[in-house]
Amino acid sequence: MRISVIGCGYLGAVHAAAMADLGHEVIAVDVDAAKVDALAEGKPPFFEPGLPEILASSLDSGRLRFTTDISEVAGASLHFIAVGTPQSENSGAADLRYVHAAVDALIPHLGSTDVIVGKSTVPVGTAEALSHRLLAAGSSATLAWNPEFLREGFAIKDTLSPDRLVFGFGEGPGALQARSALRDVYSQAIASGTPVVETDLATAELVKTAANAFLATKISFINAMSEIAEVTGANVTELADAIGYDARIGRKFLNAGVGFGGGCLPKDIRAFSARAQELGLGSSVAFLDEVDAINLRQRERVIARVIADAGGDAAGLRVAVLGLAFKPHSDDVRDSPALDVAQGLLAAGADVVAYDPQAHGPALLRLPKLNLADTLEQVLVGADIAVLVTEWPEFVALDPRVAGDLMAHKRVVDARNVLDPDTWRAAGFHYSSLGRP
Ligand code: UDX
Repeated sequence: MRISVIGCGYLGAVHAAAMADLGHEVIAVDVDAAKVDALAEGKPPFFEPGLPEILASSLDSGRLRFTTDISEVAGASLHFIAVGTPQSENSGAADLRYVHAAVDALIPHLGSTDVIVGKSTVPVGTAEALSHRLLAAGSSATLAWNPEFLREGFAIKDTLSPDRLVFGFGEGPGALQARSALRDVYSQAIASGTPVVETDLATAELVKTAANAFLATKISFINAMSEIAEVTGANVTELADAIGYDARIGRKFLNAGVGFGGGCLPKDIRAFSARAQELGLGSSVAFLDEVDAINLRQRERVIARVIADAGGDAAGLRVAVLGLAFKPHSDDVRDSPALDVAQGLLAAGADVVAYDPQAHGPALLRLPKLNLADTLEQVLVGADIAVLVTEWPEFVALDPRVAGDLMAHKRVVDARNVLDPDTWRAAGFHYSSLGRP
């Protein structure tokens, strides 16, 4: 099929490359010429395992092209909208300006039977409003919604072999055609058994919002339990194992620690809350404000723990921060708990050195006093205390005897509950974590 992808950020670049990898002819459009140039050379402006490889093969095959010229979408019949929906500056609401701009830019180039497919995460009701926008502009193209559930670090696998596909359709005459186009574009995944949920536009939009809200709630639930466990001497990891064996609960997303960050979960629960308030349903999702508050409190807990474990005074304390990305296998520091922990320690007067295997880009400039180390060994040299905030495999595999030889004092705060307390204590460390004795 010939498809276009509007927006070449994280979602759009991955989607475009994955669709070309499946054999489709893809034209990917972005207003940012630097981004388009980099992608056209096969260099994604962010770290995502496997993406450079499929980008290179798709570019070589000629099936994938990047451009800033929206008129080049004219040969495609299916147009994916994959632009960002950032948090508005003054409220938690989603800022839809890029979605509106993308649809407006597409309209003059649409054929009468074309299908626009929204992938961006949007407040419920957006798709219907966009359908009206198309009609008002005199376009007979059809709008469908196909939310994206990819995780950073696993984006290629999640796009090529998703857990499920969700297609939302309106009531207009183009729905049948939109359905067959989406079934064609994802034919390989469907043939290999991926469940497909076909529904209306509002449900398709809400599925994404609800899924992220549920995941965030699971994490904050276990983090709340970690606070209780800590005061009562219980062990939150064993608690998570035990409740996780209940198939109705499940063990995934029950890892207590410094909490969730990134470009999706924090912004999406705030946008959901804002949208519910607009609908007069604020109290229905008021618990999400608490989910957010518990999550942000974890960052404060970690800062306080580091200072307490090092003797109560942060002034002049040399702290090694292990990890800056919001999670491993990513270089993304958007709303990263690690950055807030580093910032809090700096504000308390500590001398903070951080190391992350991938996150060292310009986003870190917001912490000018933060020193960056080039290696794990380097960050540990002379440290009074280390705090593990992102569970990169090399941190989890760190030998405490090696760490102890490099550090000035043997103290570690495990803010992801991933190190073995017995091994670290046996090596002479003062070890602490969140909610494990
Ligand atoms: C998330 C959703 O998983 C994905 O479906 C959606 O499309 C976008 O948002 P992502 O932001 O890439 O994906 O990361 P994810 O792997 O979901 O982790 C989110 C955050 O939760 C990370 O900061 C992670 O460290 C944290 N987390 C996850 C926990 O603190 N505990 C857990 O048990 C699981």
